[in-house]
Amino acid sequence: MKRITIKELFAEPERYADQTITVAGWCRAIRASNTFGFIDLNDGSTLPCLQVVFEADRLDNYKEIARQNVGAAFAAEGVLVLTPEAKQPFELKATSVTVEGTSTPDYPLQKKRHSDEFLRTIAHLRPRTNKYEAVFRVRSTAAYAIHKFFQERNFVYVHTPIITGSDCEGAGEMFRVTTIDPDDPPRTEDGKVDDSKYFFGKATNRTVAGQLNVETYAMLTVSGQLNVETYAMAFAKVYTFGPTFRAEKSNTPRHAAEFWMMEPEIAFADLNDDMELIEAMLKYVVAYVMKECPRELELFNRFIDPELLTRLRNIVESEFVRVSYTEAVRLVKESGLKFEYPLEWGMDLQTEHERFLTEQVFGKPVFVTDWPRDIKAFYMRVNDDGKTVAAVDLLVPGVGELVGGSQREERIDVLNESIRKFGLREEDYGWYTDLRRYGGTKHAGFGLGFERLIMYMTGISNIRDVEAFPRVTGSADF
Ligand code: 4AD
Ligand code: MG
Repeated sequence: MKRITIKELFAEPERYADQTITVAGWCRAIRASNTFGFIDLNDGSTLPCLQVVFEADRLDNYKEIARQNVGAAFAAEGVLVLTPEAKQPFELKATSVTVEGTSTPDYPLQKKRHSDEFLRTIAHLRPRTNKYEAVFRVRSTAAYAIHKFFQERNFVYVHTPIITGSDCEGAGEMFRVTTIDPDDPPRTEDGKVDDSKYFFGKATNRTVAGQLNVETYAMLTVSGQLNVETYAMAFAKVYTFGPTFRAEKSNTPRHAAEFWMMEPEIAFADLNDDMELIEAMLKYVVAYVMKECPRELELFNRFIDPELLTRLRNIVESEFVRVSYTEAVRLVKESGLKFEYPLEWGMDLQTEHERFLTEQVFGKPVFVTDWPRDIKAFYMRVNDDGKTVAAVDLLVPGVGELVGGSQREERIDVLNESIRKFGLREEDYGWYTDLRRYGGTKHAGFGLGFERLIMYMTGISNIRDVEAFPRVTGSADF
């Protein structure tokens, strides 16, 4: 079966006009009289459906087709007829229709609006709705645009490991990876836990509140950064893009336990170079998605966020703002507004502060730089004041923190001091500090939360609705 996609028909209707073609897809709506009927067919290539007209006097299996339900899969052959006077620009006059897969009247996606909450319970079917079809095409297009941006600039894509021994962000929010039964760990003859039987060959025992707590060194990564930094010291420009995991119990609309992060790392570069890269990349990806997914973005603009297209256009055209953390705290404090969490210098910004800055003060993306050392990660470069680090968060309207990045500490003595200061063990990071011993250079990088980017580009406000099968605290269904 040489199948034409509905996207191709919409792209070049004249080319296919009066031709016999074959299409295949799923039925979004079907209605039929005794003599003729219509199927709204969606094949996942584009949002609009193709109207298939089927007639009793042309098709032997007319009755079989007419009794099908929404959700059924069909293949249809017929002639494409342009219908300039009608609502849809063309329709297919079927010469044959095959039922590829039946459906039943209890198909949960009927032609009405369903709530996001309900659709999450049928995550296996929701990509067959317009909204989710649009979300996941934008997601795919944005992922491609990210690769395209970096590949065009000769960055090397590094596949950093998902199983790791190091806690990059030092926040202790890692999932353990183990094959052992915690209630019955392998033991040596004298009853001690036998490390050598562990899959990755290493383990520590810790006694917590009188209980033996077996801890393996293998965990799911929270960030590919430390590994990708090693490749930056060989290729100079690298990026990693893959799944990351955080066992943080924050049940918010913007935190997931499994999410994708894109992390570039550049050698011979400082925080300013880092910010330039963030800005160039974001503008490129937004412009690319606007060019490739106009129908999808129009749908979001119509049904989800009427400001979306204006905002996206604004991103591409405007220059991002830069303020220091100290200045940001001053703006929040002097606003006179009442925040749920009053802010003082030294505290992390909460979402309400982030949104105030980017939505109310500036109305566009804001780089907040030079954060207090104590609330950021150990690898960030300490500024001359000794109190702040060369870190940057990019805040955007509607989402808050979209990117977190920094210049990395290249001075081995300062780095080791930070490792100790943050309660980490120098011996666990020997390979990382080695980079500073052998040709270490100034370097910088950042992490873009990919789901947050999709939220930003679609106006969708819950991270659960931009991941195919969301994993969040309390739920890992499907
Ligand atoms: O700010 P974060 O923690 O930075 C890092 O992990 C660095 N190692 C990145 C680097 O410099 N290479 O995380 C980066 C981004 C955040 O800005 C946010 O967009 C996203 O990852 N993020 C999450 N997205 C969804 N769910 C979560 N639980 C997230 N935690 C962070
Ligand atoms: Mg961060």
